[in-house]
Amino acid sequence: MSDFLIAPSILSADFARLGEEVDAVLQAGADIVHFDVMDNHYVPNLTIGPMVCKALRDYGVTAPIDVHLMVSPVDGLIADFAKAGASYITFHPDASTHVDRSLAMIRDAGCKSGLVLNPAMGLEPLKYVMDKVDMILLMSVNPGFGGQKFIPATLDKLREVRQLIDASGHDIRLEIDGGVTADNIRDIAEAGADTFVAGSAIYNKPDYAAAIAAMREQLAL
Ligand code: DX5
Ligand code: ZN
Repeated sequence: MSDFLIAPSILSADFARLGEEVDAVLQAGADIVHFDVMDNHYVPNLTIGPMVCKALRDYGVTAPIDVHLMVSPVDGLIADFAKAGASYITFHPDASTHVDRSLAMIRDAGCKSGLVLNPAMGLEPLKYVMDKVDMILLMSVNPGFGGQKFIPATLDKLREVRQLIDASGHDIRLEIDGGVTADNIRDIAEAGADTFVAGSAIYNKPDYAAAIAAMREQLAL
């Protein structure tokens, strides 16, 4: 397996058949499960919480679960998601009063930690915590909904964050989220991403395996 990870966002799955939908993308070649948590406060939408994460684990999902918290405040959900089987927990720095503390809480709970930067946010929040994150997630759409268009300025931002990561010497994944398709994934990878969230570009296709294979083909070029 290459070091590129494909992370289908279950936001675009059929929630009435969530276990099957998660199994289906994993069998179709996905690496990790992207789990979008929205609170109708930090973002204008409302989705799923720790109970659903636990339900997926109980259903038999063993792949890493990448929990993307679009909630404010953050801290109250960390222990619950860790107990529910989250592998990664990422949050938006502007949603936490004490970012360093939230990052420590995630690692102390046994999960991998990450920060998420919205499209218009600069890199400043990363500066003093590069040794405390396992993942940096760049939003390439404004958070809240699936099916939006990739914001092209994110490519420059990816290049900048890739340099920061390489210069830091730490083992940090660089994830991209929003509007990723087989048509733009190659440019995104060339800009430095190694972990690719895709919701509508996988779940809205009739053949998940073909959708994921089309992305991997681009990544192999
Ligand atoms: C948006 C979510 C994304 C979303 C991506 O707030 O964080 O994970 O599901 O969906 P697509 O790939 O359709 O842009
Ligand atoms: Zn997400």
